[in-house]
Amino acid sequence: MKCRVLVDATTHIGALDRRCYGQFIEHLGECIYGGIWVGKDSKIPNEKGFRLDVLQAVKELKPPLVRWPGGNFASGYHWRDGVGPVSQRPKRYDMAWGAEEPNHFGTGEFLEWCRLVGAEPFIVVNAGNGTPEEAAQWVEYCNSAGGTYYASLRREYGHDKPYGVKLWGIGNELWGEWQIGFCKDGAECARRTVEFANEMRKVDPSIELVAVGCEDPEWNIEMVKGAGKYFDYLSIHFYDFNNKPYRELVAVPLSVEQKLRDVNSLIQAIRRKYGIKREIRIAFDEWNVWYPEAKEPLLTQVTSVKDAIFTAGMLNMLQRLCNIVPISNFAQTVNVLPLIIASSDGRMVLTPQYLVFKMYCNNRGSSVVRTLVDTDLYKSNETGEYVPYVDVSSTISEDDKVLYAYALNRSENDSVELQVHLKGFQPKSCFHYFVSGGSVEDKNTFENPNKVKIEEVKVKLTSDVINIELKPHSINILAFYD
Ligand code: AHR
Repeated sequence: MKCRVLVDATTHIGALDRRCYGQFIEHLGECIYGGIWVGKDSKIPNEKGFRLDVLQAVKELKPPLVRWPGGNFASGYHWRDGVGPVSQRPKRYDMAWGAEEPNHFGTGEFLEWCRLVGAEPFIVVNAGNGTPEEAAQWVEYCNSAGGTYYASLRREYGHDKPYGVKLWGIGNELWGEWQIGFCKDGAECARRTVEFANEMRKVDPSIELVAVGCEDPEWNIEMVKGAGKYFDYLSIHFYDFNNKPYRELVAVPLSVEQKLRDVNSLIQAIRRKYGIKREIRIAFDEWNVWYPEAKEPLLTQVTSVKDAIFTAGMLNMLQRLCNIVPISNFAQTVNVLPLIIASSDGRMVLTPQYLVFKMYCNNRGSSVVRTLVDTDLYKSNETGEYVPYVDVSSTISEDDKVLYAYALNRSENDSVELQVHLKGFQPKSCFHYFVSGGSVEDKNTFENPNKVKIEEVKVKLTSDVINIELKPHSINILAFYD
């Protein structure tokens, strides 16, 4: 198969927000306990209780943003249980997942872990069975420089300076009946959101707020109409639960792109209708594939090359939507629907999905540039839509010195001769990074942890047109250096 691509470095589509490749960790299964946190006395090597192999693997992802403590867990979590001397913290029943929560990992541990991995924190407050007052006190604990009770408590617990947490979520999936304290409709959630936002902003007016949205347009209309003056981002979650055949799975990012565009059009129409001046964009703050094997209480699954192609398709799609979806969080980083599998006997496996994040996060420009692709298509049996075999998006660094093209070949059996034409950029060198594995079902396991890996080739630049071979079912990044 042949494919021609034009990457136009002179036309910037929009800024690529650093937060668009975010991660999500929840008190659920072995994500926090056993994954992120093993405690100082564990036999598993750790730094201050943080599991060292996982810490290192997450650092290598350069995660821009990490969402915590849930998820469903957030709707029953009372933050005061997780601060202060660990031995005095209460063990609570976690109603969301039916588990015992020891509270050894709380606000201080989360914010320290974020510091160590170099990520910005994103905290979701309990708008399920919590109160606006409790949420505002959490903001005070984290962000206040004053001498009031919760700011002083933070100092007493060893953190003199405010943490300065900028991004806060008001609740999680409050539209779902499984959620502790769920709302009966969008109007009820809007009223609750206003109360939380009002008290939280009285403590720190500079915070940014994410409110609960969903696939139901009526809910979103009520939320924007009733609370749009108070929040900055509407949260949307997506999981593909359907265990789809390969061709359909790798086409999913196209329908997600359409859904997100539809949500955005609705938000902007309601803002216009009700004269809401506050800008509202989308926080796509949970997304992944979710296989039938991922059952409660652990939600473990082992994903393969096909899921890596789905993941790269989602990241390309998010680049294209950079102006409307500045925030996204992959669900989840460790052990739960995981990027990283960390066992209780101290071994760790990095999934092909992890490799995609590693490639994208380490080769990231700051603006998305116009990219035109002339590729063969196939028809999706599920949606009836045509799906491009080759999907390419591109970014450029802030100093215009590095241009990146992210190309996936969705074809299961055919390689692609890719012809790249660059406009407004004269590269002096080029590296080609790729992941393809031997088949779409290839996985990394404890027995064979490097079956799927990132490969790297230096590309010879002999003419203005650059020819690259894309292997079947492959994710490729071309990094062009000025
Ligand atoms: O990521 C697992 C769960 O999926 C989250 O807790 C919840 O928000 C979603 O339904």
